[in-house]
Amino acid sequence: MAATAGAENSGMISRTFWQGKSVIVTGGSSGIGRETCLAVAGAGGRPGIVARRTDFLDETVGAIRASGGSAEAVACDVRDRAGLRAAVTELEHRIGPCEVAISCAGIHRVSWPLEPATAHDVIDVNVGGCLNFLAAVLPGMLDRRRGHICGVASIAALVGLPGNAAYCASKAAVVTLLEGLRIDCEPAGVRVTTVCPGFVDTPMVTDEERMEGGLMTARAAAATILRAIERDRAQAWFPARTWLAARLAASLPPRLRARVLRHQPRMQEPPQPRPSRPDGDPSATRQP
Ligand SMILES: NC(=O)c1ccc[n+]([C@@H]2O[C@H](COP(=O)([O-])OP(=O)(O)OC[C@H]3O[C@@H](n4cnc5c(N)ncnc54)[C@H](OP(=O)(O)O)[C@@H]3O)[C@@H](O)[C@H]2O)c1
Repeated sequence: MAATAGAENSGMISRTFWQGKSVIVTGGSSGIGRETCLAVAGAGGRPGIVARRTDFLDETVGAIRASGGSAEAVACDVRDRAGLRAAVTELEHRIGPCEVAISCAGIHRVSWPLEPATAHDVIDVNVGGCLNFLAAVLPGMLDRRRGHICGVASIAALVGLPGNAAYCASKAAVVTLLEGLRIDCEPAGVRVTTVCPGFVDTPMVTDEERMEGGLMTARAAAATILRAIERDRAQAWFPARTWLAARLAASLPPRLRARVLRHQPRMQEPPQPRPSRPDGDPSATRQP
């Protein structure tokens, strides 16, 4: 078990490892989570998917089944602790006891000027949702003395970025949450992996960010995440160049770091996508 950086060109994932495995993924309806579910199913695994938008869930399950794989989905907001426990129970009933749990659900909101409601949304989904999910899957894994939990954080966990204090704080919290859980879980037979991607081409990035180039594809990010789990990595930071730049910035004294980062391009919020249903949860319409 080790931390790695830059396993960008991750290649194929192992069919032997994923064959028949029940894998619950939050945020599996879009972007990195969706590609993770497609890859797990393509390698013979059984993804159980959690997200809010039912039409996006149906589309992902449909795509997997159309290519001969199996998948199940339950719509749930990861902020809803009891609902998420019930969703995990329902998915385990359909796909079997969870062997790998991947917490991928997340949102990005700009947090300058600092609006408490917006900043809390980011923390509630990215940290609270991860916590709720891991708390829902861990008792079963600990009873069985086997399992693997994985949290999708970000390279943004390494430093505070301009306009994005809440997002960076949320991802730093996920890294530390899994650090602590690793100490408690691994002697009890449950492995822990934290993955920290740089920019990935998903609905979470803006067209301007996309046009700047250098983004990983969601498929490559998913493969890197699944390889990190297969190889039992404690942490995987990727791509290497973004990780190195962030490490360099993190090594600067705080005020010098602030002066340097103040001039960096700011991560922006993409336009709001269409809602799942016209009468659906209005917060779903703010999802990048
Ligand atoms: N894209 C990047 O550059 C990048 C870089 C580093 C880390 N990440 C992280 O990677 C993860 C996936 O992001 P992505 O880029 O793939 O974005 P995405 O395409 O917007 O996917 C986000 C997923 O999270 C789900 N989600 C959001 N809020 C939720 C809630 N309250 N309850 C349940 N599900 C919720 C969304 O589904 P619903 O809206 O249907 O609920 C969707 O499936 C996030 O944690 C993100 O922070 C992304």
